[in-house]
Amino acid sequence: MKHSSRLKNSKNIFIFLSALILFFVCGPSERQNSSESGLGKYKPPKLPDAPAEYQKKKNELEGKKESIANGKDTYRRKCEKCHGQKGDGNGKKAAVLAYRPAEFSKPGYLKTRSDGQLFFIIEKGSPGTDMDAQGPGTSVNLSETEIWEIISYLRAEFTK
Ligand code: HEC
Repeated sequence: MKHSSRLKNSKNIFIFLSALILFFVCGPSERQNSSESGLGKYKPPKLPDAPAEYQKKKNELEGKKESIANGKDTYRRKCEKCHGQKGDGNGKKAAVLAYRPAEFSKPGYLKTRSDGQLFFIIEKGSPGTDMDAQGPGTSVNLSETEIWEIISYLRAEFTK
């Protein structure tokens, strides 16, 4: 009797540990945690995934010198106050936001984002956060070309 109940106990511990490991492997998503830097108080709502027609988009202006320069200019005027001059998410305004601006310069970060995904978020924003839609017709009113130029700049300047 004693023997079999000990067996049962260790079986339960085994199941418990397996569940715990599964939770840590599968549980937390890959997005950055807003509390990591002490900026932002809560985990932001899920960043929207770009629909298929956006995923197919390619940046024809990637690597072009003039586009990168134009993109830098627009970034400085429209994005830097939140995303920071160094692309580290520490712009002047960042500290007062509920959710942390994306940290483009984090090693590996930009490689996990397709051109179409970046385009989609810049154009449409991330609802429920301070990342407002910046595309045509919004108050920022960036043209498609301006968005591609910014993406060229982000890739050229902040890819690590
Ligand atoms: C008022 C602050 C603010 C401004 C200005 C701003 N952003 Fe953001 N941005 C944010 C925040 C906050 C997030 C995080 C949203 C989330 O996690 O859902 C974000 C997220 C993003 C993302 C998504 C990154 C990812 O993880 O895929 C992109 C791309 C982006 N911003 C680009 C820009 C560009 C380009 C500009 C300028 C045209 C800009 N942002 C201006 C606050 C800002």
